[in-house]
Amino acid sequence: MLVMLVGFRGSGKSSVGKRLASDLWYKFADTDQIIAQNQGVSIAQFFTKFGEEAFREVESNVVKECCKLTDHVVALGGGAVLREDNRGAIIASGAKIVYLKCDPVVLGKRIEADPNSAETRPALAGAATPEDAKRMAEEREAIYRKIATFELDVTALGIEESAKYVARML
Ligand code: S3P
Repeated sequence: MLVMLVGFRGSGKSSVGKRLASDLWYKFADTDQIIAQNQGVSIAQFFTKFGEEAFREVESNVVKECCKLTDHVVALGGGAVLREDNRGAIIASGAKIVYLKCDPVVLGKRIEADPNSAETRPALAGAATPEDAKRMAEEREAIYRKIATFELDVTALGIEESAKYVARML
């Protein structure tokens, strides 16, 4: 089985994904981490050097590689489902796609509280203020929902609990 986690930045895709993979005895992959490793720079540095379009290109290749995996939990970058061809590949992979939904206000607080956030993550284009980020999360929700097999509201859940709930949904 292949499990893919989608959702906005700060929804816990990587931390819940790691925990879920460990609970299921699966391997864990994270598209942002793969990109940073392959490119030898942080995602923030990549954005600064080459821009978002170049990032989306590289991301698309990594997403398609991840679609070939089995017995993995994959955390997809928050924008990895924006391209239609990525969505097509994800759906065609037969993966169980889980949308980790989180209240936008809580998302903002989590991102702020993450000490590595500014260093490793680029500012989201069009989401400079908390209000913009909220609007963007709401706009993206329609895309996450369109592609997801399951949805879990993680607003009030910790990492372990979230992983347990997702495991029960599969
Ligand atoms: C992005 C989210 C990031 C990363 C990049 C773009 C986005 O991933 O892929 O900064 O457009 O939402 P996370 O969701 O893991 O932070």
